Amino acid sequence: MARGAEEPGIWTVRRVLEWTTRYLRRGGVEAARFEAEWLLAHALRTERLQLYLNPDRPLSEAERARFRRLVQQRYRGVPLAYLLGTVEFFNVTLRVNEAVLIPRPETEQLVERILRDHQGRPPGRFVDLGTGSGAIALALLKAWRDARAAAVAVDISPAALRVARENAEKNGLLDRVTFVCGDWLSAFRPDARFELIVSNPPYVPTEALPTLPREVRVYEPRRALDGGPRGLAALARLAREAPPHLAPGGRLYLEIGAQQAQDVVARLERTGAFARIDVLKDLAGHDRIVRAERFRDGS
Ligand SMILES: C[S@@+](CC[C@H](N)C(=O)[O-])C[C@H]1O[C@@H](n2cnc3c(N)ncnc32)[C@H](O)[C@@H]1O
Repeated sequence: MARGAEEPGIWTVRRVLEWTTRYLRRGGVEAARFEAEWLLAHALRTERLQLYLNPDRPLSEAERARFRRLVQQRYRGVPLAYLLGTVEFFNVTLRVNEAVLIPRPETEQLVERILRDHQGRPPGRFVDLGTGSGAIALALLKAWRDARAAAVAVDISPAALRVARENAEKNGLLDRVTFVCGDWLSAFRPDARFELIVSNPPYVPTEALPTLPREVRVYEPRRALDGGPRGLAALARLAREAPPHLAPGGRLYLEIGAQQAQDVVARLERTGAFARIDVLKDLAGHDRIVRAERFRDGS
C-alpha cells in the first residue's frame, strides 16, 4: 500500500489484502491476514464477507487513503479494537476507545460463570466495580433481560463511564444501569447491600507492567492494568470492603491473576464473612476467578 511499493496496477481488494498481510506480519502482527481483513472492511464500511464476495473490487483513492491510515496505526501498535472502535463481548457489542480496557475472553468466562451460578434466580441490584466499557454489567443485564436485575456500574474514570453509558444506550439497557464515579465501594452508604458484587479490577503487578506487550502497555489505560505491588492493591481493598455490602447469602466474584488466588483467598478468609470461597480456573487451566459466598445469617 505504500506509494510506489509495487508495480503500478489496480489496487483491488485481493491485492491490497495480500500486500497488507505481508506488511503487518513484518510489523509483528500475528494474525496479520485476519486483521488486514477487518481493517479493510472497516475502511470500506462493509462486512468482511464482502471482501470474499468481491475480491476484484478496485479501491478508490479515498478508500486507499483511509485504509492506509489505519494500517499505519496498526503497524505502530495501536490495538485493532481501538481502530475498529467496537468489540464483541459475550452477548453485547461494545464501543471501545483508549479510555477503557479492551474486554478479554477471560472476562467472558467470568460472565458465563455468574450466569450459570444464578440460573433461574437472577439477583436484584448488583454492582460491577471498575466497569470500564461496561462489559460485565451489560452482558449480565442483557442475559437477564426479563428479570428484575439492575446494575450499578462504578468506575473511577469519568471517561470510562462515558463509554459505558454509551454502550448501555447502544444495547438498549440504559434504564437498568446506574453509573457511579467513585473509588470502589466508597460512594455507597455503609448500609447499602447487594446480592451480587463483581469486579475485574486492575491486577497486573506494577513490576510486570514493562513486560506486557507494547500494544497493551502503551495504548490501554494504565489505571485499568496497574494492580500495585504484586498486583494485589485493588484486590486487597475489594476483599476488605466488599463483605459489609453483601446481602446475606450474597456473592462476590473477583477476576484475578493466575498467581494471586492464595493471597486473595487468605484475605477473604480473614474477614470471617464468608461461608464458602472457591477458586475457579479459566479455559487455559489458570486460576482466574475467586467466588465467595457470604453467610446466610449475615454474620
Ligand atoms: C481491568 S479494567 C476492567 C474493565 C472492565 N470491567 C472489563 O472487564 O473489561 C479495571 C477498571 O477499574 C477501574 N478502576 C481502577 N481503579 C479504580 C478505583 N479505585 N475505583 C473504581 N474503579 C477503578 C479502571 O478505570 C478500569 O476501568
